[in-house]
Amino acid sequence: MEPVNIGLLGLGTVGGGTVTVLTRNAAEIARRAGRDIRISHAAARAYDPERIEGLDGIGRISDDAFAVVDDPEVDIIIELIGGYSPARELVLRAIANGKHVVTANKALIALHGNEIFAAAQERGVMVAFEAAVAGGIPIIKALREGLAANHIEWIAGIINGTGNFILTEMRDKGRDFAEVLAEAQALGYAEADPTFDVEGIDAAHKLTILGSLAFGIPLQFDKTFTEGISRIEAQDVAYAAELGYRIKHLGIARRAADGIELRVHPTLIPHRRLIANVDGVMNAVLVKGDAVGPTLYYGAGAGALPTASAVVADVVDVVRALTTDPNNRVPHLAFQPTELEDTPVLPMEEVETAYYLRLTALDRPGVMAGIAGILGEEGISIEAIKQKEPVAGETHVPLIMLTHQVREAGMNRALERISALDVVQGEIVRIRMEALAG
Ligand code: HSE
Repeated sequence: MEPVNIGLLGLGTVGGGTVTVLTRNAAEIARRAGRDIRISHAAARAYDPERIEGLDGIGRISDDAFAVVDDPEVDIIIELIGGYSPARELVLRAIANGKHVVTANKALIALHGNEIFAAAQERGVMVAFEAAVAGGIPIIKALREGLAANHIEWIAGIINGTGNFILTEMRDKGRDFAEVLAEAQALGYAEADPTFDVEGIDAAHKLTILGSLAFGIPLQFDKTFTEGISRIEAQDVAYAAELGYRIKHLGIARRAADGIELRVHPTLIPHRRLIANVDGVMNAVLVKGDAVGPTLYYGAGAGALPTASAVVADVVDVVRALTTDPNNRVPHLAFQPTELEDTPVLPMEEVETAYYLRLTALDRPGVMAGIAGILGEEGISIEAIKQKEPVAGETHVPLIMLTHQVREAGMNRALERISALDVVQGEIVRIRMEALAG
């Protein structure tokens, strides 16, 4: 049989890794796919030929990505340019040209996936995006296929390798935030714009995708609550540890009574949970299904070869399904496109969660009672309180509190009232807390 021709867009970290994996494992991949797979045409603005193993095997390399998607010889486009534009235009043109698409572009899928999948459905082509979430972990396949029997209750994932790497290095080695971020950039983990990593945008892109796959709702990135790790302080990491918790940057998608929660934020989780021990650049996704119970998926969430592993697995899937009836393929978002529901995504004020609070208060009798009184009036029940020793000469002390679950709106009201007290100094730190009990 004729080989399948790939058009590759991008020869950066993941593009280079994809060339390497397709070259290194060519024979085994062909045995699995049933056809040889060759990159017949690639486009890249700049690349480092010394770094990429297998570059010689590519038919033609230019800097014109549109020429690749218009190349009649190409069967499958692999889009590894990243970003919104021109990736969106290239993918839509590839689809219009009747080509299947494999992409690692989470931003593109989270923001334009509804449009892209509709176009692909119409044209009868596949768009595969396993590499868009959690790098090398086959979490999309697990949600779409392996867990298809389940009513998914919730998902909690460490889905940004750079953020996890930074939090781990800060905790274990006391390293400086900026220095660790620079290392993540040098290692090719970080996004082109690293604020996407540290402000939670990259994780929000991925969570948006996971939420749609889990609950059968359209992609709604604009409704995903997003908070990053840039304001986490070493003292909170230490206080959390004293109380038996670790701070992880989590993406949480949960089916609640009134709608769906989609939220990305730093989270205290009990240190004995497996996911609390996922360190460095590694990712993990915990999925709770009603039938299967909790399942955990772990692996490298970023980097050239792990991400290429997911890209190439998608290529194999597409090649295996080339001759199948388009109406009988695995649906892009796990549920049949006509079966997506408009269940509302809840605003953060309506989400219920527990909290870690740190505030600085005057060390005087009655102060704690006043703060606890406000929490009580707002219906917030306290689980634990810790007062740190006063530093010599200081009149104020740090107070740490853990609360039971409450609606975010109630906590907002309470924090506003507590902040207004004369005895409370500076900003109140609030970190959400989840038990993640199976
Ligand atoms: N910047 C991303 C991360 C790369 O650090 O996880 C993989 O999506």
